[in-house]
Amino acid sequence: MSDLKQPQFNPGKGIGTPVGVAILGRGTVGAEVMRFMQEYSFDLENRIGGPLELRGVAVSNVEKHASEVPAELLTTDARALIARDDVDIVVEVIGGIDYPRELILEALKAGKSVVTANKALVAAHSDELAAAADAAGVDLYFEAAVAAAIPVLGPLRRSLAGDRIESVMGIVNGTTNFILDAMDSTGASYDDMLAEATRLGYAEADPTADVGGHDAASKAAILATLAFHTRVTANDVYCEGITHVTAKDIAAAKEAGYTIKLLAICERFTSDDGTEKISARVHPTLIPRDHPLASVSKSFNAIFVEAEAAGRLMFYGNGAGGAPTASAVLGDLVGAARNKVHGGRAPGDSTYANLPIAAFGEVHTRYHVDMEVADRIGVLAEIADLFASCGVSLRTVRQEDNGDTARLIIVTHSAAESDLAAVIIKLKNMAAVKSVNSVIRLESE
Ligand code: HSE
Repeated sequence: MSDLKQPQFNPGKGIGTPVGVAILGRGTVGAEVMRFMQEYSFDLENRIGGPLELRGVAVSNVEKHASEVPAELLTTDARALIARDDVDIVVEVIGGIDYPRELILEALKAGKSVVTANKALVAAHSDELAAAADAAGVDLYFEAAVAAAIPVLGPLRRSLAGDRIESVMGIVNGTTNFILDAMDSTGASYDDMLAEATRLGYAEADPTADVGGHDAASKAAILATLAFHTRVTANDVYCEGITHVTAKDIAAAKEAGYTIKLLAICERFTSDDGTEKISARVHPTLIPRDHPLASVSKSFNAIFVEAEAAGRLMFYGNGAGGAPTASAVLGDLVGAARNKVHGGRAPGDSTYANLPIAAFGEVHTRYHVDMEVADRIGVLAEIADLFASCGVSLRTVRQEDNGDTARLIIVTHSAAESDLAAVIIKLKNMAAVKSVNSVIRLESE
């Protein structure tokens, strides 16, 4: 037997008993959760089996919210609010890592169920948070942490709990999808489209977490943990953002029948030594223009799941924004409240499989290598030999004349990251190679 534990028994408060809720943070998500709790209180009560009652909202600046929230609900003392006996569920929508981590651990230890939208926190500390929830016999829900309104964690945890998931691949960041989609449709530069994303309010004032791929990496860690029953943190995820993707890359991809998307890719595979391993990575990726993920435009998200029995599933929708994120928070809130009323707990993360996480060098994929080379006899053969000497097989080669030099675009067959890395080092040291302009990974169906 593996690490099976005796579950804590939660007998439930009984039908009709109120469920007290504390909300930590009142940004766009917190405000929308409050609006729903107020406007749809009758529906929520009937769906839950008891009324949801808001006990308080913790904010950093009471004055800022005073015109919209009754004074008796507002507090700056989140700890005191969490500790109240009449609070059963804590909703954390503050963001950040250290402070919400402390608050959530306090809440769980005090026997409160927790609903959070905090991907960075869950990706970094899910083991500690899950252990605290298990020890107290309460729920820890975080559907909103990945792709906001799109229900994907619930299906991984419940609907697909009996299947064997082979891979989860998707567009899980709206800001970068907006930028890449706009670059693809207008031919504009990365900087111009980032400015446009900022103007339209998609990108944050500091867009580093989005464009650097870190936001998607946190989501990949959460998806991989649930898909493979193995604890994966953001540090285990290879992460490359979109800041270096140029209009020239997009145009070359388009010409060859591809589009570039920032993908989170979580896979199970058998490594060269025969061991089953998993990997999780985030990077710009060429995908064929007829791939289902290629048509995901603007700031939409989509996640493609492949499982042994279910086959291929695709989840699509709004992956960012106050209301879509609030939708996922509210779903979790209803689930946690039902358990408070009727008893029982939601399924937690099972990490029994504990599969080894592959070193990035072991991951296999295909590559699109764009370089500038001397245009003279024998160069192409030299380059083909170099790829072959590193064990990387070529699939297509395209050449464009460019005066004294030629632009060479090579697409490889599937090869290990370590082998491709060796190719790139050697190319950069080769006299005939003037520059390696870009190396972008490529996925096909
Ligand atoms: N900033 C994220 C995005 C939304 O652009 O998708 C929150 O995860």
